[in-house]
Amino acid sequence: MPPPKKLKEGRIFQTVFYTNTDKKSPYRFKAKRVVDQDERAPKVILCDDPRIQPGELCKVRVKTVTKPRQKARGYIEVEFLGQVAFKIDASFYVDPVLEKKLQALLDAGMNILLDGPQGSGKTVLSEKLAQALGMEYVYFNCSSVYEPTDFLATFQVKESEHHNVVTEWVSTDVLRALEAAHANPGRRYLVFLDEFNRCREIARNGIMPALDATRRMYNPRTGSTIAIPDNVLWIAAINNGAQFTGTTTVDPAQLDRFAPVKMRYPPEKEEIRILAERYPNVPQAQIRRIVKAANAIRTDENLRVDLSVRASEEVCLLLSHPNFAEYDGDPLPDLLKTSFCARFLGDWDQPATDAGLVWQCISRALEL
Ligand SMILES: Nc1ncnc2c1ncn2[C@@H]1O[C@H](COP(=O)(O)OP(=O)(O)OP(=O)(O)O)[C@@H](O)[C@H]1O
Ligand SMILES: [Mg+2]
Repeated sequence: MPPPKKLKEGRIFQTVFYTNTDKKSPYRFKAKRVVDQDERAPKVILCDDPRIQPGELCKVRVKTVTKPRQKARGYIEVEFLGQVAFKIDASFYVDPVLEKKLQALLDAGMNILLDGPQGSGKTVLSEKLAQALGMEYVYFNCSSVYEPTDFLATFQVKESEHHNVVTEWVSTDVLRALEAAHANPGRRYLVFLDEFNRCREIARNGIMPALDATRRMYNPRTGSTIAIPDNVLWIAAINNGAQFTGTTTVDPAQLDRFAPVKMRYPPEKEEIRILAERYPNVPQAQIRRIVKAANAIRTDENLRVDLSVRASEEVCLLLSHPNFAEYDGDPLPDLLKTSFCARFLGDWDQPATDAGLVWQCISRALEL
């Protein structure tokens, strides 16, 4: 067998970490194998990156190789580059084909636009994607953007130490992430632009050149443009539809800069599984009824409304509370009147209102 290849500084390889049982060590994780070469590493591999998931195959780069000295053993310190197997943890449901598509798009450096109704998992999915890809996650809510420059910095008027009025540009998390990405080319950053269609269209134009081949943005702090390095990826989320007030249309030129991904509520079976995992003390039969009612509302041809997963979670949360453990009779109808019907206009006992129609739909589905 050929001797093991030297792990020199800068070499990238795959390995699997385990928790380091040496409590005195400053490194939380250790590994022994160079998996892509199927060989044992000449020295122990150490890393302290909190994104490491023990037992999962990941990609690393050699930072330093420390030789054995006196009684101290040698070791290889590595930098964590990301997980190899792209896997979103089971606490979140994502359609298997969509999961593959998302990975392929992000691998290719494409921007993604998540479009879906309220509570369909857009925000949580973006976080899970960053986690699965070993990327730093940067959350930015576009509803606070008023001027095109607000994406990178906001102009603030403050009182100085000597009680004078002073003005200054304050960097946003996006600008800080871009600067960090320039300073740390080995790290990858996923910027999530939440509520992308809740800022003025004219303000949104400020970020357009960052999303196309120009990959530059005007930085008001320096008065010049800042390049968007390759280690920065963008995901935006919108609620598209006439029922959403406070939103503005994203014009075709803006939309064209993204790969669009439609989000849907999880299938009934998956929503039951997720809720059962999150609320183990709620009887499964009740969870099945909650999700059945939720889906009856979502799919009703005449109602044509959406119902967030937050609503079914809310009912589970209430049912798991000790107050409802010894409820006289079945608490579900009362909880659905508040957690489901109250999300719509009108009241559950007013049959001509949306809330009333939702209640009728629930009653039919659960045979109340
Ligand atoms: N596919 C899913 N798997 C697991 N949980 C989900 C899924 N979809 C939604 N949820 C749950 O629903 C809740 C709302 O999700 P999230 O905030 O990501 O929705 P959203 O689409 O961003 O909503 P909004 O448009 O209102 O911002 C979270 O608690 C999330 O865990
Ligand atoms: Mg959201």
